[in-house]
Parts: sequence; structure tokens; C-alpha cells
Amino acid sequence: MGGDVMQISVLFVCLGNICRSPIAEGAFRARAEAAGLAGRFRIDSAGTGSWHVGAPPDPRSVLAAAGGGFDISGQRARQVRRDDFAEFDLVLAMDRSNLDNLRRLRPTGATAEVALFLDYALSRREDVPDPYYGGADGFTAVTAMIEEAAEALLARLARRLPVTE
Ligand code: 4NP
Repeated sequence: MGGDVMQISVLFVCLGNICRSPIAEGAFRARAEAAGLAGRFRIDSAGTGSWHVGAPPDPRSVLAAAGGGFDISGQRARQVRRDDFAEFDLVLAMDRSNLDNLRRLRPTGATAEVALFLDYALSRREDVPDPYYGGADGFTAVTAMIEEAAEALLARLARRLPVTE
């Protein structure tokens, strides 16, 4: 925590960190900003895999995000690291395969809460499906799911923040 104001840190995780989790990072940040709560969150995304480290989001994700009114083109992919489980309060997996991988990577005694994104945000034990091998319509559908969940996540986490003003 530290600083004058408590922050909640959230890490969104998928496989490649080029399709789903960049959209989740961007959608959640846009909503936090719109609510005047950007300073209360540390928001990041990462992939369990290393193939795309350093790469920008998939152009189909950038386009779908732009359709939702937020810009993710400046993001760069990185891989999940062990320190993430100490540095982030909440680590949210896009699908159950990502969740299994995160549970394996999580060091014993790490403080982060690790959960499935749609389950944590919407109480739906469902995956955000991997759109990588599909068409543009898959990216639009995934973005709509993520935006709904990001909205609910912000509402849930905002209730945890102490009032300072
Ligand atoms: P993401 O999608 O996990 O949502 O970023 C994928 C991106 C790349 C690959 C798989 C999924 N890939 O195998 O390269």
C-alpha cells in the first residue's frame, strides 16, 4: 500500500498478453478514470506464456478496444513473474487454463488473491474465450464480456476503498 491514499493493485492475466488481458487492463483503467478513481488503482496485465514479450496488443484487440472507446495501443506484453504474487492484491485469470497455470506459479505463502475474472467480477464461473485463432467478431464478443466484467469489478473494488475526501 504506502502513500497517502490506499491503492488496490490488480493484474489481469491471459496466455499471450496480446489479446484478452490488454483489453481487460484498458477497459478497467478507462472505467476507473471515468469514476475519478484512477489514482486508487495500480492496473497491469501479463501473460503466462513468453512468446509475445515486448509486443504490442494484437491489432484486432486494439481495434475492438477502440470500438469501446479506449486505447490499448501503448501496452507491451510481459510475462507473469513470481514477484507479481507479492506485489498485486488481485491476480485475475481470463480462463481456467490461465488460472491453473497461475496456481502453479504462485509461490507458497504469496499474498495475492488469485481468481477467475468473470467469477470474481460477475459470479459467473465462465472463461473469457481465447479469440486468437478466430475472426474479428470473436474480439468484439470478448471485448463486450470484458467491459461488463470490468464495470462490475470496479463497483466491487470501489466498495473496499476507504473514503478520503
Ligand atoms: P491471449 O491470446 O492469451 O488472449 O493474449 C493468445 C495470444 C497468443 C497465443 C495464444 C493466445 N499464442 O499461442 O501465440
